[in-house]
Amino acid sequence: MTTEAETPTLQVRRSGALRGSCQVPGDKSISHRALLFGALCDGPVQASGLGQGGDNLSTAAALRALGVDIRLDGGEALIAGVGFAGLAAPSRTLDCGNSGTSIRLLMGLVAGRPFETELAGDASLTRRPMRRVADPLRKMGAIVDGRSEPARPGDIFPPLRVRGGSLAGIRYDLPVASAQLKSALVLAGLQARGRSELREPARSRDHTERMLRFLGAPIATDDATGALIVDPDGWNGRLKAGRIVVPGDLSSATFLLIAAATLAGSDVTVENVGLNPTRSGALDVLLAMGADLEITQTGDAMGEPVGRIRARASRLRGTEVRGELALRAIDEVPALAVAAALAEGDTVFGDLAELRVKESDRIVAVARELRRAGVTVEERPDGFVVSGLAGRAPAGGTVRPDHDHRIAMAGAILGLASEDETIIPAADIATSFPSFATTLAALGAPIT
Ligand code: S3P
Repeated sequence: MTTEAETPTLQVRRSGALRGSCQVPGDKSISHRALLFGALCDGPVQASGLGQGGDNLSTAAALRALGVDIRLDGGEALIAGVGFAGLAAPSRTLDCGNSGTSIRLLMGLVAGRPFETELAGDASLTRRPMRRVADPLRKMGAIVDGRSEPARPGDIFPPLRVRGGSLAGIRYDLPVASAQLKSALVLAGLQARGRSELREPARSRDHTERMLRFLGAPIATDDATGALIVDPDGWNGRLKAGRIVVPGDLSSATFLLIAAATLAGSDVTVENVGLNPTRSGALDVLLAMGADLEITQTGDAMGEPVGRIRARASRLRGTEVRGELALRAIDEVPALAVAAALAEGDTVFGDLAELRVKESDRIVAVARELRRAGVTVEERPDGFVVSGLAGRAPAGGTVRPDHDHRIAMAGAILGLASEDETIIPAADIATSFPSFATTLAALGAPIT
C-alpha cells in the first residue's frame, strides 16, 4: 500500500457532493505540547490522539535526543517524564524539520538547561525569524546564536545554538502576538529564579496555558492586566504525571469543511475536533460568509473544548477578516482564501503580516495559486483581497506548494471545484495531515 507521504503528487478532478462523517488527526499544536510537557512530568505519561504528521515527529525526535524515552504507536505515546532536571545534554543537533513550533518551544526549554544545544531544520524553517525568541531568552540569561542574513539585518535564523543556564524571570511585552514565543518564554520562566510576567499585544492561542495549568504548573493569568504570570518559586519543578488526551485538529478539519461548504449537495460531519475559541476564528469567518455549519460541543479534553462540526453546502459571500478574528484564524487563511475565491463578492484579509513568515510567505503563495486558477487577487503588505468567482469554475493546473503543507491542501480543495485537473506535489502534506487524501476520497472526492 502506498501512503500520501510516499506519493509524489496528487491528482484532483472536479468533484460532486461530499458526504459522510470523518475524523481528523490529533491537533498539531496540542500534540507538540503533549510531547514536550509529558517529558516534563514526574513519571510516565500516556498520551492519546496525537498527531502523526512530520512536525509532531520532529518534536518527539528532539526530545529523544534530550534523553527522553518516547514510545510512539500510532496516535498513542508512552512518555517517560523526567522533569526539567532529567533532560540530558544532546549528542546531536535537534532536527526540527519544517516545524516552527518545535524549534521555538525547544529554544525556551533548553535555555534553562546547563548545556549547549544546536537546533536546525529544513530549507523553509531555516528562513524563519528567531530573534523574537532569542532576544527575551538572552535577557533572561541564556546565550543564543544563529545564522544571520545580510538581506534581513538584526534577525537570526536556524541553525541556532543555545547555551542554557541559570535564568532570571522577566517582565516582557511581546512585540508580536505569538503562541510559539509565549510558550518558549513560559518554558524558560518555569526554570527561572523569580516570577515572569508576559504581556501580548493580542491574545494568541492558549493551548500552553490550558495544558500546563491542567498538569499543575505555577502559571496564572492576571485578570486585571491580562498578563500571563509564571511564578516557579517554591515549586518542585515537576508536572503531574497522568493521561493526556489530544482532540482532532481544527486546522485540518477546516479544509474538509470548506470543501463541503463549496461543493453543491455536500453534507459532511467532522467528529472529535478541538473548538478552542482562541483558535476557531475560521468557523466564525465561514459563518459570516453564510456557511451552513452546525457546531456542537460534546466534551472537554484537558481544558480544551471538543465537539463535532457538520457542514452543508451553501452560497458563500465575501467578508472581512481582520484584527483578533484574523489572529484566531491565522493558520486557516490558505483554506479560507479558497472559500473566498468560490464566494460572491470580495473578501478582505488584513492584519496578517505574520503570514509572510510562516512555512512559506503565504501572502505570495496564496495570491499566486489563486491567480493561476483565474481568481483576481490584490496583494497587500498585510494580506490580500480576493474577488470571488461567484459560480464560475476556477481553472486547474499545477500547484506550487513552496514546501508548505497548507498551500498544498488549499490547492487540492480549490482543485475539487475546478474545471479541469489539478496536480499537487503532495510530499509536504504529511507535515500535518498525512491522511488528507484518503479522508477526502472516503467522502467521495475524486482525489488520487
Ligand atoms: C502555533 C502558533 C502559531 C501558528 C502555528 C502553531 C503553536 O504560530 O501559526 O501554526 O502551536 O503555538 P505563532 O505563534 O508564530 O503565531
